[in-house]
Amino acid sequence: MDAFLPEHKRTLYCGQVRPEHIGKEVVLCGWVHRRRDHGGLVFVDLRDREGIAQVVFSPDSFPEAHARAEALRAEFVLSVRGTVRRRPEGTENRNMPTGEIEVVASSVAILNESKPVPFTLEDESDVAENVRLKYRYLDLRRPAIQKAFLQRSLLARSIRDFFFENGFIEVETPVLTKSTPEGARDYLVPSRVSQGMFFALPQSPQLFKQILMVAGYDRYAQIVKCFRDEDLRADRQPEFTQIDVEMSFIDREDLFQMMEGLMSRAMRDVLGVEISLPFPRLRYREAMDRFGTDKPDTRFGLEITDYTKELGDTGFRVFADVVENGGVIRGITAPGFGGASRSELAALEEVAKIGGARGLSWWKVSESGLASPIAKHFRNDQLEAVLEKSGAKPGDLVLLVADETLVACDSLARLRLHIGEKADLVDRARHEFLWVTDFPLLEWDKEEGRYAAMHHPFTAPLDEDLPLLSTDPGKVRAKAYDMVLNGSEIGGGSIRIHRRDVQSKMFELLNIGPEEADRKFGFLLEALEYGAPPHGGIAFGLDRLAMILAGAKSLRDVIAFPKTQKATCLMTDAPSPVDPKQLRDLHIRVTAPEKK
Ligand code: AMO
Repeated sequence: MDAFLPEHKRTLYCGQVRPEHIGKEVVLCGWVHRRRDHGGLVFVDLRDREGIAQVVFSPDSFPEAHARAEALRAEFVLSVRGTVRRRPEGTENRNMPTGEIEVVASSVAILNESKPVPFTLEDESDVAENVRLKYRYLDLRRPAIQKAFLQRSLLARSIRDFFFENGFIEVETPVLTKSTPEGARDYLVPSRVSQGMFFALPQSPQLFKQILMVAGYDRYAQIVKCFRDEDLRADRQPEFTQIDVEMSFIDREDLFQMMEGLMSRAMRDVLGVEISLPFPRLRYREAMDRFGTDKPDTRFGLEITDYTKELGDTGFRVFADVVENGGVIRGITAPGFGGASRSELAALEEVAKIGGARGLSWWKVSESGLASPIAKHFRNDQLEAVLEKSGAKPGDLVLLVADETLVACDSLARLRLHIGEKADLVDRARHEFLWVTDFPLLEWDKEEGRYAAMHHPFTAPLDEDLPLLSTDPGKVRAKAYDMVLNGSEIGGGSIRIHRRDVQSKMFELLNIGPEEADRKFGFLLEALEYGAPPHGGIAFGLDRLAMILAGAKSLRDVIAFPKTQKATCLMTDAPSPVDPKQLRDLHIRVTAPEKK
């Protein structure tokens, strides 16, 4: 191995060598991506952050360098000095930015060796994710992953530029803090000094940003870590990053305009894409009725149709019972699925069941009308009404769910995505942003038997719904909004309550007594009494946004050191047991059985 000397320093990134450098001497530093021995000539693809350059070792021109190249193996770290030349005719690689040139090595320094790697770093290589996460530093070397991280960095920069240009101030908020009300479990940190007391890691900086508005900072933005101990999915991590925003003296329209500006800037800077403004808006109710979800993917149609009127009042007890109990009969039309086999139909039913549906009824459409195992329960005019409403053509399949409204919505939303995917209806090149507005202020928590805030308890009700607060709280709509991109909730926020009396009323509705309110949020309630301006804001999931822009399927592809589904880090082995002395200092006794 060689020492790293001044003459080994890079003059150019591997990925940046171009025909304009032909004839020039360069020094490249990087990792051996691939090594090929071609009867005499040795070719090394040298890789760095910016890409790959082909290096040639020739026994005739530079025998010493060539002799050393024999020893090179995958992932060795090199500094190569050489001259750039055009690749011989017929050997160019038009798929690579550096594919027209190669570097003829005159000398090579081996700066470090590598054990044989546990998986190849080819982008296509198919490796179990737990191995990738254990050797994350190798995984992160893969060109496609590096590209995603360069892109994420560009995204963060574009966002920061936008905020500074628009008069936002970045203020850091604490990580050791008090429980915040975003509805997940907290990560707790024991205090050594205050015995038996705990900090909570913030689920979001919600209360701090509101306090900053009370403090007169007017426009705040921060890219900030948040922590939530919740069940993980592909689009959820226990530790994630928000683009957190709050503004004073604004209404919803001001905020929408500013945030549309932010997204349009980011799309231009990161993907070079112009998106059209303003974003379409959907009220929550309409989103649920048409798409079954409050985060619809509007890149394709397949909207939901309601058949409660047509099919609810018939001799078919299964449907009639659902409707008598306040439920609905809704469906979607799967184009071209009329020939679905028994097992394909069963697979569709499974999808519906994940959404909670007890069953799925299917109707095949042919020239002679609708055919279904349950068709005999309905009159001809009813079947005709369904056929007409569904817009189905011969060869299509109509799928119906009869259930509680939310269950029917969820099941059909899942079926819609499933069918959209199967029928290849989603135009992946499109980016469909939209706002969902007018969420209900409260949702009924069945387990707790009380109302819970649908967004969070600091969200203001719609002015016109204020009278309903005392008469029919479940009907009150909120000044809350989500931003949706391609069927993913990338952000959520609201206009806040800025009056102490309204905030207290809200806590009352949520069954949070004055004492509990004071204990948990006393500092905010008090701050509201010292000249709180009208204010509102939003927070975006930066990881989610980065994931969508990178075309990735999991947040783990855009978070450098992510957690597994079980909220562990396979590289560092966190969480892990701690020294008994540390526990003694904290006055903590662990009662969990010891793990081997
Ligand atoms: P909310 O809880 O909707 O709002 O969060 C805002 C956005 O953060 C992202 N997000 C997540 N991303 C990855 N993993 C998670 N576990 C996770 N949880 C949330 C989502 C979501 O839209 N304080 C309010 C915002 C406000 O009112 O201003 C809040 O945190 O993209």
